[in-house]
Amino acid sequence: MEFSAKKVNLSKQKTACIVVGVFENQRLTDHGKTLDATSRGYLQMILKRGDLSGKVGRSLLLHAVPGLAAERVLLVGCGPEKDMDDARFLNIMTKTAEILRSMRCRDIVFTLHQLKLRGHDLDWKARQAAQLIRDRLYTFDYLKKRDPQSRPILAKILLAAQEASEVKPIQRGITQGVAIADGVDLAKDLGNLPANVCTPTYLAKRARELAKGVRTLSVQVLEERDLRRLKMGSFLSVTRGSRQPPKLITLQYKGGKTGTAPVVLVGKGITFDSGGISIKPSAAMDEMKYDMCGAASVLGALAAVSRLKLPINVVGIIPTCENLPDGNASKPGDIVTSMSGQTIEILNTDAEGRLILCDALTYAGRYKPDTVIDIATLTGACVIALGKHATGLIGNHQPLIDSLLAAGVTAADRAWQMPLWEEYQDQLQSNFADMANVGGREGGTITAACFLSRFTKDYRWAHLDIAGTAWRSGSNKGGTGRPVPLLIQYLIDKAGR
Ligand code: BES
Ligand code: MN
Ligand code: ZN
Repeated sequence: MEFSAKKVNLSKQKTACIVVGVFENQRLTDHGKTLDATSRGYLQMILKRGDLSGKVGRSLLLHAVPGLAAERVLLVGCGPEKDMDDARFLNIMTKTAEILRSMRCRDIVFTLHQLKLRGHDLDWKARQAAQLIRDRLYTFDYLKKRDPQSRPILAKILLAAQEASEVKPIQRGITQGVAIADGVDLAKDLGNLPANVCTPTYLAKRARELAKGVRTLSVQVLEERDLRRLKMGSFLSVTRGSRQPPKLITLQYKGGKTGTAPVVLVGKGITFDSGGISIKPSAAMDEMKYDMCGAASVLGALAAVSRLKLPINVVGIIPTCENLPDGNASKPGDIVTSMSGQTIEILNTDAEGRLILCDALTYAGRYKPDTVIDIATLTGACVIALGKHATGLIGNHQPLIDSLLAAGVTAADRAWQMPLWEEYQDQLQSNFADMANVGGREGGTITAACFLSRFTKDYRWAHLDIAGTAWRSGSNKGGTGRPVPLLIQYLIDKAGR
């Protein structure tokens, strides 16, 4: 799919479809008025008949409108003319993209990024338009007999400029939107792949492919023997029950000055989480193939950052393995020694994410990081607390948390902070080791973060719990690619772009 920006004469533009907005009470947008004038009041006539309410979510497809070179005009409801806000704007883009998905148009001319919206420039609106069109037209059909009829065919999207001076900002929005969408697609694909395909070895292969031929990207993959040499006893305890070899993947992006401290992203890469000996109930257990979505978001973010050539240094660290029961698997009550030297009593083998992350977080210290952000489908408790709309956010440095919250708002990929208070740490008390790996049912997302905080004392750190946001369940089951947009926005802001 290709996006472009151009100043166009809407009436004379040859295209399969022009997409224009209609407000409530039969009010046309400026673009609508232009088309109405060339068609001698044809659009107004149709609106007067009451065939389109102008409410968000309503639309009307017109064919062969008199006087226009375009084959079709898609009228899209935009709600009341006044008081457009972010939520409504994004909703209009999403609804429109869903209609485009079902249409058989190869190319369109799009104008909805021109809707007036306080607090945002054309760059942002064009970027959101591009991102949401890509998001809604995503398909995952590599593993199906392909039905050409059900595949969207939309290939060319021209975002209309009203003045020549608008071409540049729209183009900037497109460049960012497409880079983010590519990162999001990669994260969705990796999440959607089944665990018999997407193994730790497969993730390492995809990481190597990302870096191939890209001068600013390099990859290192550590094997089980290396993890042993590094004394990652906690990480190793999780992989014991699996026949798939674990990997510690490190991707390094060097876009900034040599020597400037990197932002380190650490992504949980459990390619399947059965719970281990503390085995999960079987209902919906298939969804635990998504337990590597943190890792996928790190790969997606690094792909986008290198595409955008951001002038910063970023390191992605991915501990990856399976969590399965076996005669050799870790047992409740086992005590292991982490790379940091702290000992951990594994009271529940299903709290495995923190066990692989803690060693990866210790390892992250070797890069003398400016900031470390970990991303993990860490706790079911987070889905109970925040539902599917917000990513959980906890950390040890408030300005970092504020930047991430702001990035989430800008990127329309929001997070919500939870506390990291000392009081919660007591729940991790163990009679036999330095800490237990679980803190009971109360505040499960917070105690998981408390556990990680014991390994992140040497640097500024934030933790994103994406258990609720990384994928959708039910009939729309599928990866969302979140929080790739948030991460990229944070890095764009950090790079001062
Ligand atoms: N990967 C799961 C968390 C999860 C569960 C994410 C359901 C999304 C949906 C994680 O490894 C896990 O099993 N966490 C346990 C922790 C508990 C044992 C303290 C949980 O949330 O139940
Ligand atoms: Mn688990
Ligand atoms: Zn897990």
